Amino acid sequence: MARIEAEVGKPQGGFMKWIDDRFPFTETMKYHATEYYASKNFNIWYVFGVLAMVVLVIQLLTGIFLTMNYKPAAAEAFASVEYIMRDVEWGWLIRYMHSTGASFFFIVVYLHMFRAMLYGSYKKPRELIWLIGMLIFFVLIAEAFAGYLLPWGQMSYWGAQVIISLFGAIPGIGEALVEIIRGDYSISDITLNRFFALHVIALPLALIALVFVHIVALHEVGSNNPDGVDIKKHKSPDGVPLDGVAFHPYHTSKDLVAIIVFLIIFSGVVFFAPEMGGYFIEHANFEPANMTATPEHIAPVWYFTPFYAILRAVPDKLGGAILMAAAVLLPVFLPWLDRARVKSIRYRGWIYRSALGTFAVTFLVLGWLGTMPAEGIYVNAARIFTALYFAFFLLMPYYTTVDKTKPVPDRVVYHG
Ligand code: HEM
Repeated sequence: MARIEAEVGKPQGGFMKWIDDRFPFTETMKYHATEYYASKNFNIWYVFGVLAMVVLVIQLLTGIFLTMNYKPAAAEAFASVEYIMRDVEWGWLIRYMHSTGASFFFIVVYLHMFRAMLYGSYKKPRELIWLIGMLIFFVLIAEAFAGYLLPWGQMSYWGAQVIISLFGAIPGIGEALVEIIRGDYSISDITLNRFFALHVIALPLALIALVFVHIVALHEVGSNNPDGVDIKKHKSPDGVPLDGVAFHPYHTSKDLVAIIVFLIIFSGVVFFAPEMGGYFIEHANFEPANMTATPEHIAPVWYFTPFYAILRAVPDKLGGAILMAAAVLLPVFLPWLDRARVKSIRYRGWIYRSALGTFAVTFLVLGWLGTMPAEGIYVNAARIFTALYFAFFLLMPYYTTVDKTKPVPDRVVYHG
């Protein structure tokens, strides 16, 4: 007991005891931090979970301050954002932090998901962590989509128009569904109001709850590591994994360095390139929504463009919508599509290594194609890369079975 209290720095019988008698503070700290043992060989790929949490906090805080001055009405929304940018004290900073935060959220989450694919973190016993992660990803997509309508710019309006109208392609219920989503016969003030409600309260609440269960599930089974070996197999006599170190203070101090580096890069973008050449804030969104003039090229923000390229690769509206939905949903099944007996890429054969490398390139190329006009060579290229995207998932049960793997070491390999 004295040791526990020394860890939280309070004398026995003091304030901490008073708290602990009423709330399991010390016990929770031990379980999730000071006695949560994670592998000592974590590398840079392991910082993105914590960074995703940092971005979530940035989005929540800046979002609260934006809401204080934003007006969720079609007649006022665009002007209220301009007011925030020009007249509200520090409003420009808060708005740019929020818009940059949206893009950084996806950068960090895509890298976080890719790490799981590198080290087989979705495999047994971590399937549920992956599934909760996928739910987080879906909510994040909805959150970003709803948020993008709020400034009521040209791209807000027409982007939402394109995506919402996709639901109309569903036979039978399509049109009714579109009306339910819009709340009106076209995208209007009513749509803006409901998207505002979703963006500022419903979806953030869902995100916070899901991140909480994501971590609870992670701490139940323990973190994976770049070798994909089970560190709980080798423990010292007092039950501490030999290859593990306490999350706090060892991993927290390393994570702090990553957070500082991240914030420096983040500030660089916020202060010097918040629009990022039209990729983070599209040029067309500096014009107010006009339902009588369609912008020349309608493209979503970069983080949706890989899926947008898949949508446009199919000439038929319903076919494109189905393929796009399938592309977003397929990663859910990774824990069962991947039949390899090893987790980490370090011990996989050349087939998986090439497949994952090709997949990463495919995703980036699709992202670029989604920003280009849907014509000629771009559409043909999008078809080839769409085929590659699906081949990665659908052929996985086969190639992960035949791929020759290397023996996995008994203990983690530490590259100091
Ligand atoms: C708001 C978004 C998210 C937050 C805040 C978050 C947070 C975290 C944190 C803090 C960790 C532990 C540290 C680490 O391993 O990096 C973690 C682990 C993990 N996350 Fe996430 N996560 C998010 C989204 C996702 C998504 C979208 C997926 C996948 C679909 C995912 C899958 C995983 C997996 C598989 C692990 C275990 C990794 C391992 O032990 O190797 N997460 N997450």
